[in-house]
Amino acid sequence: MNPDQAVLAMATTEVDISSIAEGQAVTIKWRGNPVFIRHRTKPEIDAAKEVAMGDLKDPIARNANVKDGDPATDENRVVGGKEQWLIMMGVCTHLGCVPDGSNALREFAVVENSTKTGGWFCPCHGSQYDTAGRIRKGPAPENLAVPAYKYLSDTKIQIG
Ligand code: FES
Repeated sequence: MNPDQAVLAMATTEVDISSIAEGQAVTIKWRGNPVFIRHRTKPEIDAAKEVAMGDLKDPIARNANVKDGDPATDENRVVGGKEQWLIMMGVCTHLGCVPDGSNALREFAVVENSTKTGGWFCPCHGSQYDTAGRIRKGPAPENLAVPAYKYLSDTKIQIG
């Protein structure tokens, strides 16, 4: 059975990221779920890179664009070396709520260790994700999933 055109249209989605300024994020809908697209600042990237692998609750990248089981380094959470762009499902791996990455809550979500830059906070049961979307505290078992996506150009991505 072949999927009809409407289903095919939803299978992938193109997003123009040119207007997302550094430090800003947008949320889009893909296959009925939120996807976070964050233009990370250098301090956010540096904070993610500083984290020791041994401190990660979930050591697996959970990135559909790298090999299964690859480690959750900051590099393995992005695609094509474009470390300023973090693109991941906005679905908490605990019970599926949408974590909050707004500035106020990001400050609240400062993780332990020296990191002064927050990531995402899930108010449902207090899960905290760092600036690479990796679970650091709370009941969520896994890092936020990175969907399959690719760059069509420097300013356009295709998700799915
Ligand atoms: Fe996120 Fe419970 S759904 S902490």
